[in-house]
Amino acid sequence: MKVIVQVCVLLALVAVAYSASSTWGVHNVTDSVIINKRVTYPAVRNVGQTFYFDIPESYQSNNKVISAIYLQDQFQNSSGPANTLVYGGPGWTYASIQMRTQTGLGLNVTFVVYGK
Ligand SMILES: *[C@@H]1O[C@H](CO)[C@@H](O)[C@H](O)[C@H]1NC(C)=O
Ligand SMILES: *[C@@H]1O[C@H](CO)[C@@H](O)[C@H](O)[C@H]1NC(C)=O
Ligand SMILES: *[C@@H]1O[C@H](CO)[C@@H](O)[C@H](O)[C@H]1NC(C)=O
Repeated sequence: MKVIVQVCVLLALVAVAYSASSTWGVHNVTDSVIINKRVTYPAVRNVGQTFYFDIPESYQSNNKVISAIYLQDQFQNSSGPANTLVYGGPGWTYASIQMRTQTGLGLNVTFVVYGK
């Protein structure tokens, strides 16, 4: 029983560690930064929220192929969102990233996207 609890705690810690900051792809020194942006949303008490970050952003265009997307959690205390690349990403000119915040916490992340 104790072992099971310990395993669960361990898995929970791993899950938290994997939320917050995420990276997709790798960039090359010759790649340029196509997006460098902070995204914040206020917290809503007792609610986990879902947000999307799209590349290109609304009313923008992008003709560069994405090589890497860095999503950096600015809380820096493992309270950041769980992130999923919904479509696109490295190798494409577009991407959509879903961020699910932890219950009762807002969002404060920066996106750095490289392309070539
Ligand atoms: C970086 O990109 C250049 C030009 O596309 C390519 O020649 C080079 O091999 C790449 N370097 C790495 C480490 O991928
Ligand atoms: C986001 O995090 C940065 C760095 O921790 C901080 O300086 C900034 O005030 C935060 N912004 C919001 C809206 O919470
Ligand atoms: C992490 O930081 C955020 C923003 O400063 C705060 O709202 C949140 O309660 C913190 N979480 C923990 C577990 O300390």
